[in-house]
Amino acid sequence: MKSMKKIVVLGSSNMDLVFSVEEMPRTGETIKSRGFHKVPGGKGANQACACGKLGGECTFLSAVGEDDSGKRLLESLEKAGVHTDKVLKKENDTTGMAAIMVAVSGDNSIVIVPGANQACDREYVESNMDVIEEADVVLTQFETPKEGVFKCIQEAKAAGKTVILNPAPAPDAIPKEILQGLDYLTPNETELNRLTGMPVETIEELEKASKVLLAMGVKNVIVTLGKRGALLSNVAGSRICPAFTHLKVVDTTAAGDTFNAGLAVGLAEGRCLEEAICLANAAAAISVTRNGAQTSIPTKEEADELILKMRDK
Ligand code: ATP
Ligand code: RIB
Repeated sequence: MKSMKKIVVLGSSNMDLVFSVEEMPRTGETIKSRGFHKVPGGKGANQACACGKLGGECTFLSAVGEDDSGKRLLESLEKAGVHTDKVLKKENDTTGMAAIMVAVSGDNSIVIVPGANQACDREYVESNMDVIEEADVVLTQFETPKEGVFKCIQEAKAAGKTVILNPAPAPDAIPKEILQGLDYLTPNETELNRLTGMPVETIEELEKASKVLLAMGVKNVIVTLGKRGALLSNVAGSRICPAFTHLKVVDTTAAGDTFNAGLAVGLAEGRCLEEAICLANAAAAISVTRNGAQTSIPTKEEADELILKMRDK
């Protein structure tokens, strides 16, 4: 039995208002939805929930409003086994929200209202330094104020933790001193383009752009490539870690979040990097076959079963 290290996720909590549509509406167009549901989401909460479902020991740092959405979000995380006692409950503020359109193709379009997530700032991070100190792996993104995210990365790095930054949504740039604190940076193709300003169409272009980030101090760049899997780049070079592609795509919302959690749990469990990315690809592949954000995340058993099934083929 492998020993499980502790994971801390710092990030957003949103209630997702999901509209299923045939195709994305064009500018000025009004269309009818094929269906509607309201489900717990937010990049931070999805990543924490996925860490819990995939068997990780995870504490979540976030902020919600004192409303029904906040309650439902905390319930969803607690059901996944995530420690939520440090989540800030912000009086007189509403829980973050996301309006999501999901097309029949599985593609999505998202607009967020940050709400209480704005309270997840540098001060909040400073008041939870003990949680970061107790952790082994720290995972964060950019849906909460970047000053808090940067503080978390700096402190985690100084304390020798394994630091993963999922740069979503991507800022125009990340300061060099922050990049130097990262063990893993996990952009998708659009985020890589935004961070480097470089083309990302071909594998050669993806490698070149990843190398720029490596030269700035990131130890490993893992670019998620949808159905093509992920491109890992580090001092040893670049290689593709293939996706599990035989499954039917229903809704890709939270695929990236599930991937990041799979990586964090794999590393926390002591799997080697390639095996951790394999777990990430398997968990994310299952998530795209199901609707919603947290509702789509598989368990550790489901992800491991998929890995074994594909190995036996
Ligand atoms: P999203 O914003 O929809 O959550 P993303 O753009 O952050 O996703 P992607 O690169 O699209 O991230 O997907 C993340 C991971 O999910 C991929 O690296 C892959 O492992 C898995 N994945 C995504 N789409 C598919 C697919 N069609 N088939 C199998 N796996 C997929
Ligand atoms: O990554 C998916 C998430 O992005 C959704 O759950 C939505 O809340 C937005 O934050």
